[in-house]
Amino acid sequence: MCGITGYIGYRDAYPIIINGLQRLEYRGYDSAGIVLYDGNDIVLSKTKGKVSDLLEKAAKEISPKGNLGIGHTRWATHGVPNDVNSHPHTSQSGNLVIVHNGIIENYDTLKKELINRGYSFKSDTDTEVLINLIEEVQKENDVKLGKAVQIALNQVIGAYAIAVFDKNKPDEIVVARLGSPIAIGIGKDKKEFFVASDASPFIEYTKEAIYLEDEEMAIIRVGKKVKIRKIHDDSLVDASVQKLQMNLEQIEKGGYEHFMLKEIYEQPRAITDTYRGRLLREDGIIKMMGVEDNMKKFLNADRIIIVACGTSWHAGLVAEYIFEDLARIPVEVEYASEFRYRNPVITENDIIIAISQSGETADTLAAIKLAKSRGAFVFGVCNVVGSSIARETHAGAYTHAGPEIGVASTKAFTTQITVLSLIALRLARAKGTVSSSDYRYYLQELELIPEKVKMALTSDDHIKKISEIYKDATNFLYLGRGYNFPVALEGALKLKEISYIHAEGYPAAEMKHGPIALIDENMPIVVIATSKGHYEKVVSNIQEIKSRSGQIIAVVTEGDVQVKEIADHVIEIPETNEGFTPLLTTIPLQLLSYHIAVMRNCNVDQPRNLAKSVTVE
Ligand code: M6R
Repeated sequence: MCGITGYIGYRDAYPIIINGLQRLEYRGYDSAGIVLYDGNDIVLSKTKGKVSDLLEKAAKEISPKGNLGIGHTRWATHGVPNDVNSHPHTSQSGNLVIVHNGIIENYDTLKKELINRGYSFKSDTDTEVLINLIEEVQKENDVKLGKAVQIALNQVIGAYAIAVFDKNKPDEIVVARLGSPIAIGIGKDKKEFFVASDASPFIEYTKEAIYLEDEEMAIIRVGKKVKIRKIHDDSLVDASVQKLQMNLEQIEKGGYEHFMLKEIYEQPRAITDTYRGRLLREDGIIKMMGVEDNMKKFLNADRIIIVACGTSWHAGLVAEYIFEDLARIPVEVEYASEFRYRNPVITENDIIIAISQSGETADTLAAIKLAKSRGAFVFGVCNVVGSSIARETHAGAYTHAGPEIGVASTKAFTTQITVLSLIALRLARAKGTVSSSDYRYYLQELELIPEKVKMALTSDDHIKKISEIYKDATNFLYLGRGYNFPVALEGALKLKEISYIHAEGYPAAEMKHGPIALIDENMPIVVIATSKGHYEKVVSNIQEIKSRSGQIIAVVTEGDVQVKEIADHVIEIPETNEGFTPLLTTIPLQLLSYHIAVMRNCNVDQPRNLAKSVTVE
């Protein structure tokens, strides 16, 4: 995915766009660019690299003048990251400029047609094809920019969020969306407008925003009401203006060196926010409107199918254990990318739970649409309020983790598990599959988790020392059993994505079916060996590793004796019931990957080749 920003109004557009791009850099950081209308003409600067590289280049190339402009930070899809492929792109005449997030799938056919009509192309991007198509439509039909954008988009197959302006009509920005998000910030008395992939670039200027829905486009003019239309049938849409809840503090680092570290430390607060108003321990109840309103469906479901990607998929795997254990409902957990392309058996008695931090992941969205088309009820667990998945699902529950900016998911994972635990407990109570005393105990334990996460975080310095020892390792194994098998997968993913060390997660007992061959004195193995569950079995697995000279870093319950004697390092977490241990065991693994990545000089918040949410296939 990419980040787009834009401004039209009375202030200098340059700093607003550059700051906005810095806030959106989590969405992509291969290249960046900006174009301004300086009163006479457009001035454009773009480069491979980060927004900081753009700042340097733009300072030499353009004068930062003008009250109209658009900017882009890119995660490459068509065309390698280089200066030419960077956005903004101009049309052949140089009159129109565009920034784009998404993919135009039929760009090749459109490009050939445009070449036949005399167009030539500087870049390898699908975006340059789109801006030339808009120009061609404008010329052919003698229509205004908005109409030309609309006609062109009706010829396009794919996904997009775009912002376009015409230097000969520098009083408007045209934006449109299909599959990629776009928000319009409305300044006081409509004297200025902001455009962005999310509201973070304009949060200090306005708390009022319109989020375009799929297949909508808007014409933004200073002093005028934003006009929104359906791209396909031209019908006018009533804009719904939303009050933004986000504040500046939430999207800044707040004294931490990296967003990831801030977000790891935010987990006690985030988990509390997740269950606030839902877990009413004193009344002995769990109240979640999305579940209450659909209780019959949940209770009559033959099974639950969880669809998600990456870390959210790992949260789904934890949920499989919780739902089956507590609520006795059969659960299947599917990679959304696989689910959407096979021919899954889905019936009206299935419930699909789609989990996504961003709520924009293309594969998860497609899996939801497939399940809906087969008549299933779809429930979303999302963090980003108003996101595509939140809107596409029949009902859902937000995680309320607050903005997660580090590309590596941390607080999203623990808050997803919290929401899913609440749902499982609520259903278990309704079905009578847990006794009332156990139920009360679970509520009490869940309420204590934020304090216990705080305690787990106190091992940070100790984990930093362990990281120092293993920072140069080339491979890691992560092992866990039962509820902690998905945590092993998650720990390995965290290490891979931010430190570029190869790591694999395995169910501890599977080790002897193959991976044990990898073990020698150079192999660090992180083993989750908490006291509840399969402790003795995991201890045996640790012994098997030790007798082959593997280096053990064990995550244990405080007070552990047995593992301490055999492991090379132990990291303690507070005790809780087995089902909630993933909320604690994941903390040291997040910190371990964080410190190792920092020590290896890796870009923790913006790891190479990744983007925060994957809005393309
Ligand atoms: O926004 P989503 O939760 O749908 O994103 C899913 C994955 O792309 C995401 O979890 C990814 O694996 C993270 N980089 C993991 O840290």
